[in-house]
Amino acid sequence: MIPTVLTSSVDRAARFIRAGRVVAFPTETVYGLGADATNESAVQEIFEAKRRPVDNPLIVHIADMTDVEKAVTSVPDHARRLMDLFFPGPLTLVLPRNPHIPEIVSAGLPTIGIRMPDHPTALAFIRACRVPVAAPSANVSGRPSPTTWESVQEDLDGRIACILKDDPTHVGLESTVVDCTGEHPIVLRTGGVTIDQMREVVPGTVMSGSGDSALRRSPGTRHRHYSPVARVVIVDGLSEIPLASGTAFIGFSADPDPNRFIKAFNASDLGAYARRLFEFFRECDRAGVETIYCQRVPRKGIGAALMDRIERAVAG
Ligand code: TXA
Ligand code: MG
Repeated sequence: MIPTVLTSSVDRAARFIRAGRVVAFPTETVYGLGADATNESAVQEIFEAKRRPVDNPLIVHIADMTDVEKAVTSVPDHARRLMDLFFPGPLTLVLPRNPHIPEIVSAGLPTIGIRMPDHPTALAFIRACRVPVAAPSANVSGRPSPTTWESVQEDLDGRIACILKDDPTHVGLESTVVDCTGEHPIVLRTGGVTIDQMREVVPGTVMSGSGDSALRRSPGTRHRHYSPVARVVIVDGLSEIPLASGTAFIGFSADPDPNRFIKAFNASDLGAYARRLFEFFRECDRAGVETIYCQRVPRKGIGAALMDRIERAVAG
């Protein structure tokens, strides 16, 4: 056990990074678990703290466009157009790795994911660190990503040096990951930026298939993900849900009987559903829920990423 410092001071949190330690910090998507991306032993501590498989690469977070070249060696035209529109934002671009970033960050791959979070505290923190910040989501591997600092503490208290406290994150699902090393951008993970938004600037953007080559390209998809302890079941509506104890519901149908579920969340729109999903999973586990019923949504806009995360939770 190490003492985990809770602070709202960006400068205090950044000093830990400059000392080679690991710090959880907010972004617009989910909380990240950061370390100096140029410091191999600091990055090693990220993998240990969250028990992450070492073959799963990390994203490098930057705060200024001039930092792009610290992480990557070249930016093809289509990637430049995506950057111009979505940096800062919930989009991670996979590009050729600059050897300045040690191999451990990219799990030995010749590529590296980079992202500029659209969040004032995250940007101030990265600037105060004065180095690119390598960071996966700040959960123990396999658990839902944390969207509140309390959930970071639940998973990592005593395992990391510091938590930079801030408000709950406002996207609630992770960034879109897009491989920009080939002729067309390939979406490896759906997320905060939708494929339609990307196609407006790069019409040739495609979704990765589910074959072997796609799995090799996106190492993270091999691993178990986003799973609460409770069983997760997808339903179209409330009428499909058996009347049983130990259940919870998240979706759009207001329940006529408030005593039916241990926990229920009726979202006002898709964005509210996405923002709340991971925290709802955690609340259900804390309350001992046995089965979480999630209402299916159309795979439009953020709905694509939402269904992806729910389906992974079902499989997990
Ligand atoms: O929104 C987010 O992306 C959050 C915040 C903290 O930025 N981060 C996050 O990181 O979700 P993580 O490590 O939980 O997920 C990163 C995903 C993994 O599936 C990983 O395999 C993939 O991105 N990835 C990272 N670098 C890659 C690379 N060079 N090639 C292919 N996939 C990569
Ligand atoms: Mg993660």
